[in-house]
Amino acid sequence: MLLQFSNVSFVYPPDRVILNDINFEINEGEFLVLTGKSGVGKSTLLKLIYFREAPTEGSIQFAEYNSNSFRKSALPYLRRKIGIVFQSFELLKDRNVQDNIAFIPEVTGKPSQEIKQKVNSVLKLVGLTHRRLSMPDELSGGEQQRVAIARAIINDPKLIIADEPTGNLDPETSAEILDLFSKINSLGTAVIFATHNYELFKTYKGRVLKLTEKGITETDKVS
Ligand SMILES: Nc1ncnc2c1ncn2[C@@H]1O[C@H](COP(=O)(O)OP(=O)(O)O)[C@@H](O)[C@H]1O
Ligand SMILES: [Mg+2]
Repeated sequence: MLLQFSNVSFVYPPDRVILNDINFEINEGEFLVLTGKSGVGKSTLLKLIYFREAPTEGSIQFAEYNSNSFRKSALPYLRRKIGIVFQSFELLKDRNVQDNIAFIPEVTGKPSQEIKQKVNSVLKLVGLTHRRLSMPDELSGGEQQRVAIARAIINDPKLIIADEPTGNLDPETSAEILDLFSKINSLGTAVIFATHNYELFKTYKGRVLKLTEKGITETDKVS
């Protein structure tokens, strides 16, 4: 088991209840879609996974970390095991593609030769080797999201969290980005993909968690 939510509730103070008694788990290497209408709490649930917020009740176990015994000093280590991709890409505008991807490993003090090799290999995986010297502004939305995905996988995380990663993209580009996540998943990384884009998952056959005000249910259809 990679991630387990046990009776998790979450309240934004003082009394805005977002999640109520949520239970689910993700195994190593699984692909999971998280759906639910806008405002229901998908992004909040994801924030709990990367320990950006702590549950009000219940507990979250991710790899060796438990929310009930978690120390803030462990946060950088936990974050290395999780790659996060957002709707808005969130690239550093003043750096080119390869420097965006190298940024986190550089900050954490990895040897530069190792970083170089790793950057080259993730650039190849996301299909952007030819764009490595471009600035973010020179890229299409799909390309920018590929850079963000490359950045998210550079530490070989156990889990990729994608929060509406196709929210700013046209249908064709969205399908390509989904294919890229599938490819990364097939190489062994678990993925949780939050979306309200049902169309994109028309032919998807994996696990789907649907979040509503009443709680979370598992189905085999994105709707
Ligand atoms: N910091 C906050 N304080 C209070 N309420 C918040 C905060 N962040 C989000 N919310 C509310 O929590 C609800 C769930 O938000 P969110 O998790 O972003 O939903 P989703 O990702 O499903 O659209 C929304 O009603 C939102 O307004
Ligand atoms: Mg959201």
